[in-house]
Amino acid sequence: MTEKANNKEKKLTGSIKNGLDGDETIDTLLRPADWDNYIGQKNVKKNLRIIIDAAKSRGEVADHLLFYGQAGLGKTTLAKLVAKEMDSAIKITSGPAIEKMGDLAAILSNLEPKDVLFIDEAHRLNRMVEEVLYPAMESRKLHIIIGKGAGARTISLDIPPFTLVAATTRMDLLSEPLRSRFGGTFRLDYYDEKDIEAIIKRSASILGVGATPEAIKVLAEAARFTPRVANRLLKRARDFMQVYKEKEINESVARKTLDILEIDNLGLEAHDRMLLSIIIDKFGGGPVGLGTIAASINEDRGIVENVYEPYLLKLGLIRRTTGGRLAEPSAYSHLGKKTNDRLL
Ligand code: ADE
Repeated sequence: MTEKANNKEKKLTGSIKNGLDGDETIDTLLRPADWDNYIGQKNVKKNLRIIIDAAKSRGEVADHLLFYGQAGLGKTTLAKLVAKEMDSAIKITSGPAIEKMGDLAAILSNLEPKDVLFIDEAHRLNRMVEEVLYPAMESRKLHIIIGKGAGARTISLDIPPFTLVAATTRMDLLSEPLRSRFGGTFRLDYYDEKDIEAIIKRSASILGVGATPEAIKVLAEAARFTPRVANRLLKRARDFMQVYKEKEINESVARKTLDILEIDNLGLEAHDRMLLSIIIDKFGGGPVGLGTIAASINEDRGIVENVYEPYLLKLGLIRRTTGGRLAEPSAYSHLGKKTNDRLL
């Protein structure tokens, strides 16, 4: 898939009757298309701009870049911005989509000069495929094996200058040889609440829907410091507003939207609360091992550790100790439970 960089910030008028067909189209519309409209991640932005401006002034492509962090924090958005700033086209694929060495060879041999190749979920690239990537990244060479057995030989093809942008939610699973071949590695962190409020405000304006400051604050507090979640909550609040014939998203609409979605004021969903309840009620507040928690809620331990826990840790509701996971006093009070039966 090739997308031409598009720098227009489209603005909808007439809001609800805009004829857009579903959230995915809206998501594209809400995605910032230039640095000025990209809110938050100041440090990452600053560093990327230096890399890009320097490469442009030398007439070269930018170094290969690696973005890592939780889902929804804007890795794809940044990749698209890099392409846009480089005046390049972006080709998008993902680790699991590239099954065989030949798949990657086909992608690399079709690159145009200056292209940005974006590989999402890069930790899911298999090792054979990675072997093809290394010479491509280092010396723009594609080594292809022709034939089998004794008659097999390798031919080497040149590929044009390109920038690889890889993204992963699991830096720990990325192989060391791949990790070390990027010229810039950037960790995307949770956004702060003010930035999330600004993102909701901007998105509401693009969607042409009114949202009061109080409503924006309520939605931002429940958005898990994550733009994708913030925009999803805004879209659901817009649905609610429309169905209940409200004129704008006010505080009551925002709160009722969260109620329907069973999301509480901290942004916790049912499974988050269940995880906390299990540590508190079943294991006396912990410490309890990750495997035990995972088995208790019938979930994969990787999901618990990498998807559920980071936000609970960020909020300080749980703590990781050598003995296992511990519920903090704030988890008790959030769930309306008493801590007096646990040694704190
Ligand atoms: N929408 C999603 N992420 C955004 C960001 N970082 N800035 C502005 N709008 C966004």
